[in-house]
Amino acid sequence: MLKYRADYRPASCKVISAGLDISIFDDRTFVTTTLELERIGDDPFLLNGRELTLHELSIDGRVLDEADWPVSEAGLSLEGLPAKCVVRTRAECHPESNTALEGLYLSGGMYCTQCEPEGFRRIGFFPDRPDVMTVFTVRIEAGRQFPQLLSNGNLVETGEVGDDRHYALWHDPHPKPSYLFACVVGDLDLAADKFTTASGREVDLHIYVETGNTHLTGHAMESLKRSMKWDEDTYGLEYDLDLFQIVAVSHFNMGAMENKGLNIFNSKFVLADPSTATDEDLDRVESIVAHEYFHNWTGNRVTCRDWFQLTLKEGLTVYRDQCFSADMHDEGVQRASDVSLLRAAQFPEDASPTAHPIRPESYREINNFYTPTVYEKGAEVIRMMAGYLGRDGFRRGTDLYFERHDGNAVTCDDFVAALADANDRDMSAFHGWYSQAGTPTLSVSRRAEADGVTLSLAQATPETAAGTPREPLPVPVRLGFIGADGQPVRTHLDGENDARDEHVLLLDSAAAEFRFVGEAGSGPMTPSVLRGFSAPVRLVDDLADDERLHLMTHDSDLFNRWDAAQMLATGAILSLAGGEAVAVEPLAAGYRRILGDAALLDEFKAGTLRLPGIAVLEAARAPADPVALFSARRGLLASLGRALASEIAAAIEARGQMAGHAGGRALLTQLVELGVAAGDADAIAAAASMVADRNMTISQGGLKALIHSEDAAREQALQAFHDRWQADSLVMEKWFQMESMSSVGGTLDRLEELMQHPGFDPKNPNKIRAVLGAFMIGNTPGFHAADGSGYSYMANRLVEIDKRNPQIAARMALPMTRMANYDQPRQDLMRAALATIRAGAASNDLKEVVDKAL
Ligand code: PHE
Ligand code: ZN
Repeated sequence: MLKYRADYRPASCKVISAGLDISIFDDRTFVTTTLELERIGDDPFLLNGRELTLHELSIDGRVLDEADWPVSEAGLSLEGLPAKCVVRTRAECHPESNTALEGLYLSGGMYCTQCEPEGFRRIGFFPDRPDVMTVFTVRIEAGRQFPQLLSNGNLVETGEVGDDRHYALWHDPHPKPSYLFACVVGDLDLAADKFTTASGREVDLHIYVETGNTHLTGHAMESLKRSMKWDEDTYGLEYDLDLFQIVAVSHFNMGAMENKGLNIFNSKFVLADPSTATDEDLDRVESIVAHEYFHNWTGNRVTCRDWFQLTLKEGLTVYRDQCFSADMHDEGVQRASDVSLLRAAQFPEDASPTAHPIRPESYREINNFYTPTVYEKGAEVIRMMAGYLGRDGFRRGTDLYFERHDGNAVTCDDFVAALADANDRDMSAFHGWYSQAGTPTLSVSRRAEADGVTLSLAQATPETAAGTPREPLPVPVRLGFIGADGQPVRTHLDGENDARDEHVLLLDSAAAEFRFVGEAGSGPMTPSVLRGFSAPVRLVDDLADDERLHLMTHDSDLFNRWDAAQMLATGAILSLAGGEAVAVEPLAAGYRRILGDAALLDEFKAGTLRLPGIAVLEAARAPADPVALFSARRGLLASLGRALASEIAAAIEARGQMAGHAGGRALLTQLVELGVAAGDADAIAAAASMVADRNMTISQGGLKALIHSEDAAREQALQAFHDRWQADSLVMEKWFQMESMSSVGGTLDRLEELMQHPGFDPKNPNKIRAVLGAFMIGNTPGFHAADGSGYSYMANRLVEIDKRNPQIAARMALPMTRMANYDQPRQDLMRAALATIRAGAASNDLKEVVDKAL
C-alpha cells in the first residue's frame, strides 16, 4: 500500500498532554498512555499500535468492554469522541524479544527506545505522527538492578516501589511528537560535564556508557560543547533545558537519534580515542554529535508536518553539521569529503530503481527514505539557497523560520517561504529541487575569442525511475579563470563593468551563453567551473587533460584542484579498464607538485591522492564490468606507487614526524598504500610495522594498505590486529571489515568463519555491516564474482536478516538493485538473486526495495 504526499490530512484531535507509564519486567513491559484530547475535526482519531496486546481502554474513566474496542489494522480508531476527553490505554509489549530495534528493545543488558519514524506505536497506543505534538510526563518503573531510569526533559521525582523496584518521573516542558520520545533503563556509567549558554543557563551534560567505558567519552563531550557554542555563534540558537543526555548503545540501526534532551547513539559514534579510533572516526564522532545536537532546533523545536517533509530537518541539519565541520577544520578538505560522499552514494541512488526527489511523492515504508538523497542532496539544496541569499540573508531567513514556526510541525514550503519573505526575494524556482529526482547534467563548452571566451552552459535532467518532471532548475555556477602563469585572471562579464577573479552565474533555463572578457594582456586562460561544487550536478566540460593538470596544480579554488585530480584519475582508470595503455607520468607529475607545495595542508594532499571509489567509477562508465574497474583502480594505484617511489620512501623515512599530526598521518597512510600496491618491499614492511602502532590511524592505515596484497604480510597483519583487539568489541568491527573486504582472503568460506567468531553477533547491525556490508561495498571481486556466487550468497543472508531486522535488510539490499550499472550477464545473475530475495522477503521494507528493482 502506497502513501501519497498529496493525501495529507490533519489529525482530528489535539493532544493537550500525554502521560506515559512504563513498567518493565523480565518477560514483558506494561505501557499505559493517558491522553488529554480536544477534538478539532470529524475524522476518526487513530491511536497507532503495532505488535501490542491491549489490556484496557477507557474514555473519561469509563472502561470499554473488549467487544467494543475499535480495533483497526493500524491500531485503535476512535470515533464519536466528545469535544474534550481523556483516553487511557494499557498494553503490553516485548522488548526482550524485539530484534527489529524499533520501539523499546534490549541491547547489551539495557533497555532503550528508537521511535523515529514510526517506532512509538510498538511501545504504546498513541497518535504516532509527527504533526501531533504534546507535552509528555513519563513514569518509568523497573527493577533496582537498573539504576538509571532516563527519559526526556527534567527529572521530577524518584522513589521506591516495594523492596526490589523503583521509579522515576520525568516531565518535558517542550511539546514534541512521539518520534522524539525516548527512555533508557540500565546499569550505566556516567561521564558528566557542564556548559554555560550565552544567556547564562547552566546545562548539565551527561554521557552514559556501558560500565568501564567512561575513559572513551572525552572526544564526544568536547564535540558537544563545541557544537553548543557554534550554534549560538552562528545561528543565535541556545539549548533550552537544564540537562542534555547522550546514551551510547551497542545495538542500533543507524548512527544516532536526536530525541529531545536524550540523544541515543550507536556506541561507535561516542566511544573513541586516538588508540581505538582513526582520525576520520574521530571527525565523524564530532560531526554526528553536532548533527544530533543541531536537531534540537532544526527538527525538534520546529519539526516535520509529515514524513514526506523529512528533508526539512535532515537536509538542513546535514548542511549545518557540514558547515560546523568546515569551521572546526578546513573548508576545502571538508567540501571534498562531503562531495565524495554525495557522488559515491547519492548520485548512484538518483540513477537507480529507488530514485526519488528529496521530498518524495509516495512511499510504502518510510524507513526506506532515510537516504543519501533526503540527507546529502537535501543539504546541497539548502547550500544553494544559502549561497544565493548570502550569509546574512540566510541568517535572516532562518531567524524568521524559527520565529514563525517554533513549536510547530511544518513543511519544506514553509522553510523556503521564510527564506524568501525575510529577504524579500523570489525563491520559487528552487521548489523544483524538491520535486524533481535525477542528477542534472551541466554541460559547459567554450568558444575562444581574441579578448576572452564565451561559455555555453546547458542543463538536462535524465529520466529516472521516479518519473518526476525534468524542467530546468536554478543552477548556481561559481567560476573563475586561471592564466598560463597559474595566476587567477580577472575577467568581466559582458555587460558588467567590474573585472573580478570569480563570478557566480545562475543558470535557470535549459541553456545560456556568457561572454567573459579578460583583462588586457591576460593571454590564454583555463576556466575553472563549478567551484566549491556550487550545485549538485554532473559537470561535463571540454577541458583537455593538460588543462585539468593545470587546474590541479594551480587553481585558487581548492575544491577544484582536488576535483581536477579526481577527474584525471577517473579518466585514467576508465582507460585502463578498457584495455588502453595510460601514460601515468603527467598525473604523477601533478601529484609531485601538490606534494611539494608548502602552501597546502597535508590533509588536502592526502585527499587528492585518494582515488575515486568503485561507486563513482561505475557511475562514470555504466554498464561496466565492476571487477575490471576494481583491477584498473588497483593498477593505477600501483603505477602511481612506482612513479612516486621517492616521495613514498621519503614519507616512510619521515614516518615518526608525520605520525605526530592528523594531516601527516593521513598523508603517510595514503602514500604507504600506493607503495604497497606497487609491491614495494619497503612499503610492505612499513605497513606491517604500522599495524602495531599505538595510534589507530596509523595501525588501521597499515592494515588497510595490505588487505589486497598477496604478500604473507597481509595475513600476519590481520592476525596481529585480531589478537591485539579481540576483547574490544568496537575495534573488532574494523577487523571484521578488513577481513571481508580483502579481495584475497575475503572468500565466502571466510565470511562464514567470521560470522562464527565469538566477537560476531547476528543481532548487531554494526557487526552485520562490518562483515556483509563491507563485502558488498569493498570486496568487488568477491561480491561481483562472474559466477554469481556473491549475489546468491548475499540474497540468502538478506532473507535471514529480514526476519530479525527489516530496516537493515532493506538497506543492505540496495547494492543488489543497482543492476543497470553492470554488464548483461551480471544483470541477469543479480535479477535471479533479487527473485530469491523477493520470494523470501517477510517485510514491507525489503519488498518495497526489491519490487522497485524487479
Ligand atoms: N534522525 C536520525 C538523524 O538523522 C536518524 C535516524 C533515523 C535514527 C531513523 C534512527 C532511526 O540524526
Ligand atoms: Zn538527522
